[in-house]
Amino acid sequence: MKKRSYLELRKLWFDFYTERGHSVIPSASVVPENDGSVLFTTAGMHPLVPFLLGVQHPAGHRLCNIQKCIRTGDIDEVGDERHLTFFEMMGNWSLGDYFKKEKVKWSFEFLTSEKYLGIPKEDLKITCFEGDEIAPKDEECARLWEETGIKKEQIEFLGKEDNWWQMPSGTGPCGPDSEMFYKDIEIGNDVYMQYVIPKAGDKVKVAKQRNVDTGMGIERILCLVNGYNNVFESEIFAPALTIIEKNTGKKYKDYEREFRIIAEHTRAAVIMLGDKVVPSSTGQGYVLRRLIRRAIRMAKKIGFERWESLIDFYVKFFEGIYDLTGKISYIFRSEVNKFNKTIEQGMKEFNRLGDNISGKDAFNLYETYGFPIEVTQELCKERGITVDLEGFETAKKEHSERSQAANKGIFKGGLSDTGEKTALLHTATHLLLAALQKIIDKKIEQRGSNITPERLRFDFNYGDKLQDEEIKKIEDFVNDAIARKIPVECNEMKLDKAIEMGASGIFHDRYGDVVKVYKIGDISMEICGGPHAKNTGDLKGFKILKDESSSAGVRRIRAVILDGEAE
Ligand code: ALA
Repeated sequence: MKKRSYLELRKLWFDFYTERGHSVIPSASVVPENDGSVLFTTAGMHPLVPFLLGVQHPAGHRLCNIQKCIRTGDIDEVGDERHLTFFEMMGNWSLGDYFKKEKVKWSFEFLTSEKYLGIPKEDLKITCFEGDEIAPKDEECARLWEETGIKKEQIEFLGKEDNWWQMPSGTGPCGPDSEMFYKDIEIGNDVYMQYVIPKAGDKVKVAKQRNVDTGMGIERILCLVNGYNNVFESEIFAPALTIIEKNTGKKYKDYEREFRIIAEHTRAAVIMLGDKVVPSSTGQGYVLRRLIRRAIRMAKKIGFERWESLIDFYVKFFEGIYDLTGKISYIFRSEVNKFNKTIEQGMKEFNRLGDNISGKDAFNLYETYGFPIEVTQELCKERGITVDLEGFETAKKEHSERSQAANKGIFKGGLSDTGEKTALLHTATHLLLAALQKIIDKKIEQRGSNITPERLRFDFNYGDKLQDEEIKKIEDFVNDAIARKIPVECNEMKLDKAIEMGASGIFHDRYGDVVKVYKIGDISMEICGGPHAKNTGDLKGFKILKDESSSAGVRRIRAVILDGEAE
């Protein structure tokens, strides 16, 4: 086996499959674009579902890529030698083109040929599907592996638990698979997708199109060819561990778990932030928050503080590979600052509680001190006690019901001071535009705006209905800006100067020579007559009530803010 760097491996994969007629497609975002059934892209096939179901792919019938994937199901296990929340999956696909014969041959060749991975064929183990009432035993696959020179003894037939692949949502294209192992470690998976589950809970049906879907985690292959014991010895993590050692004066070998969690979660967070996920209290944003907060807790244990160096390392690592466009360092840092404010007090509270942590206590740690439940769980584990998870969930549910009821009251009442409310809604409008540009499309501009004491109405150039997930993200973005209590600055200047500075505002000819430019941190800079809030924190909360079409290519959003009584 030849040693290969991370970049060499990527190139090998692309070379191998382009030489065999595949088009390289870019990695999709870790946030599924047209599918709300899961929070994150968990496999390379996920963004390809429509094409696996028969839609023509513009790049053809043979595709390959390396996909950014997030799987957080085993988040508690991160810190051991193997588990990662973010990984990169090398994949190739046949969309109704070749099937088992070609794929088995190519998998064998890629794994064993000296030109590629050069794994001795005796060291491989293969599993194939043993069959059930839906799909027959995959004798064909086993025979094809034998034809390559793999011995019968190296092949094992296993059931659905092991050799059947479907999406975590339990829907979509699926089928029997054949897995490849090196010394008991799974290194690749070829799925023969001949079936489809139309809706979660439905029976498996024979698909119209026969596809091949494959996945090979680059992290594992990197370890294998370079003889590393684990991925933390590789160039993906070793420099990050060195950064932590340098900053803390502590040794990785004495604090393996803490070091690994900090590095792994930071790497995953950089990728999520790069795909414009923002820490928040729900959905993808909450997963991101949990990762960052868990990393912060570990960092506190060993005195690590140089987040910038770690983030920079990963941003540079992925430069030229992925287009990471979010404000990664800035948002990460704000989340660190936010949690730093409460973590000390939270720890005090935790220590005060002693060995008796009820579900309600865990909820209080979550609600008041921002401790994600697994942080509390981990703290308890360190102390040798357990948490009442059910009690936590009940307390959380009760709380959310209470605040929903409270919100309804607030929406009806509104602020007494109309002028002040108008100012708040103007500021909310700027934040909304910034959110739309950031989350939906940077080309979005204002097409109209109307504010009454009850609500804001905002028209913008965009052709499609916003998905629920998108609306959620926009709300989260605005609410995050509110939570960060950012001052709203107003400067008067000549219109030319404002435009030169990059202020937006499209109704230029309506403004006089001197204009007001309202700046909200680095989120928004707009030419506007005002009035505005003094600080985003004055808004308390933001909610979108409706997204509708206004005219061709123009959408209209109606939204409200929560007033001071919300606190
Ligand atoms: N979709 C398959 C997997 O994730 C290749 O293992």
